[in-house]
Amino acid sequence: MGIAEEHRRSLADPDGFWAAAAEVIDWERRWDRVLDDDAAPMYRWFAGARLNVCHNAVDRHVRLGHGDRPALIWDSPVSGQQQTLTYAQLLDRTARVAGALRDLGVEAGDRVLVYMPNVPEAVIGMLACARIGAIHAVVFGGFAAAELATRIDDARPRVVLAASCGIEPGRVVAYQPLLEGAIELARHAPERVLWLQREQARAELRPGRDVDWHEAEAAARPADCVAVDATDPLYILHTSGTTGLPKGVVHDSGGYAVALHWSMRHVYDMAPGEVYWAASDIGWAVGHSYIVYGPLLYGCTTVLYEGKPVGTPDAGAFWRVIAEHRVNLLFTAPTAFRAIKRDDPDAEHVARHDLSRFRTLFLAGERADPDTLRWAERALGVPVIDHWWQTETGWPMAANCLGIEPLPVVHGSPARAVPGYDVRVLDEHGAELPPGQTGAVCVRLPLPPGTLPTLWEDDAGYREKYLSRFPGFYETADAGYVDADGYVWIMSRTDDIINVAGHRLSTGAMEEVLSGHPDVAECAVIGVKDALKGQLPLGLVVLKAGVAREPDEIVGELVARVRQQIGPVAAFKQAVIVERLPKTRSGKILRGTMRSIADDETYRVPPTIDDPVILDEIAGALRGLGYGTQTSS
Ligand code: COA
Ligand code: AMP
Repeated sequence: MGIAEEHRRSLADPDGFWAAAAEVIDWERRWDRVLDDDAAPMYRWFAGARLNVCHNAVDRHVRLGHGDRPALIWDSPVSGQQQTLTYAQLLDRTARVAGALRDLGVEAGDRVLVYMPNVPEAVIGMLACARIGAIHAVVFGGFAAAELATRIDDARPRVVLAASCGIEPGRVVAYQPLLEGAIELARHAPERVLWLQREQARAELRPGRDVDWHEAEAAARPADCVAVDATDPLYILHTSGTTGLPKGVVHDSGGYAVALHWSMRHVYDMAPGEVYWAASDIGWAVGHSYIVYGPLLYGCTTVLYEGKPVGTPDAGAFWRVIAEHRVNLLFTAPTAFRAIKRDDPDAEHVARHDLSRFRTLFLAGERADPDTLRWAERALGVPVIDHWWQTETGWPMAANCLGIEPLPVVHGSPARAVPGYDVRVLDEHGAELPPGQTGAVCVRLPLPPGTLPTLWEDDAGYREKYLSRFPGFYETADAGYVDADGYVWIMSRTDDIINVAGHRLSTGAMEEVLSGHPDVAECAVIGVKDALKGQLPLGLVVLKAGVAREPDEIVGELVARVRQQIGPVAAFKQAVIVERLPKTRSGKILRGTMRSIADDETYRVPPTIDDPVILDEIAGALRGLGYGTQTSS
């Protein structure tokens, strides 16, 4: 069956389509209904069913006789370590850590926050939570204490799983000061912390609260899998929203397991036993779905990489990993390839490695620019497939589904809507736009299994943020169009989210931090184009009357503030002080116009602007930072 037919079938008969897909999962109890729409627009998949996701990702493969198959290959150039765990070894360690969590009082439904870099114990910790029905909330290591604190308060974890440090090239990031700082800031205090001690920077354990990971793991009795409802949350993953407060995206257990398993074969065209590598961080959606759950549910070997595409030690790092671990498929963000291309423009490193098993490169996380796509195709000689998804969906919404029917690659488009997703482009009034016209990219409800059923303890927020603007649709907050061939084109966000090196960040959150500076009267943060990271944040700041300090000093403080309150990952390094900000007569700051000026795009002076002269002032200030030379039309 071709992709068009599969897609049609998935929408015409979602019950039949997903019930068939669900047959590959081990259920403790089968579902009463595939799609439960009683509380629409809040949908639930596989209502009445019970299962354990860890059983499906680990135990099942051992029981089927694949215990000796490598499950996880850890490759860590930043620490000089490597380790392979077979499915049997992963089962043994996961069951013990699950037992250790039990000993610390964790029960089904409790939350466990994971604050760890890409180390095997992070994956084991996530699976151990799933094993006993606890809900994990992983926080990316590049966030600062304040960001961690908001996540602690939202998830209210009973226990935290922490590593003593992360390792960035040239710098060891001690996690203990960050975690202690966060706990101090948070209203909620976790009862216990399980520390993985790494030799690069050890944590000082607090008696009574803290426990050593390896001691606890060694002492624990292995815990069995606990079946949970298919609709129970498997995890919460916080992601940037339009305010300073992140959104706690929930993914459930049954629907997620079914969808992720389905995607491994139909989107990625993998076979069990093959090697899948998502070069991402377990703190992001890609890490959850395609370092941990997708490959393991499907019985693949997953590669966990603690390093960068360049500098650890060079731009050949990815090819070394692919050759050494016989990787069949790599999934990463285009920014990684832009970094490699910058350091090794002629792809000379490629020839030094045996890439004979490497079949496909998948890219996601930001728009894949055609230049980078072409460079990757030429350098690697394999299909380069752009695909589009979000933390909220947990798996791709648009992709070239290689396991169903490979479509012609069109540079700049992530191809067509994936089965299960009814992608529509709407105008501001909610009317569907014809092919080729740009509007709000939405998905007609219900979303397929595996996507977010709600936000953590916030059904009202879920409805308001995603379902209210276009009744009957999920609003992706991406703008774009679908062309006459059904190819989706994702061009930009409709909200204040920017994409920096494949990391999703809120400019609104950065504005809140800048506004907190005592000298700042008002400010705007915009995302400007960057050849390496795609976008970079840039602050425009108006000082309070009477402030006569050195501008450079204030800018330095603002940069330090964002780094300290949001984290280094925000990459906020540029700000400029201006006399005033351009606004509409109703007082709305014209961020889009400023962005166009910075990006050298032709722009129209908005008719509602309060005072057009301000735009010239802004253009002058931006030119001072090296942005924007064009004038308005
Ligand atoms: N812990 C602590 N700090 C971190 C961190 C972590 N886990 N991850 C990143 N940082 C820091 C970096 O060290 C850097 O700090 P600096 O300002 O002191 O240099 C800062 O956050 C910005 O990081 P990043 O934007 O990642 O830039 P980079 O220069 O370190 O690397 C790339 C650039 C392109 C090589 C890198 O972003 C990359 O490999 N991206 C791959 C794509 C990816 O992982 N996408 C995620 C979704 S698929
Ligand atoms: P995240 O939730 O961090 O995965 O970020 C999701 C956002 O990244 C999407 O809403 C898009 O704005 C952007 N994005 C992800 N994949 C693509 C893609 N293939 N093309 C264009 N934008 C993308």
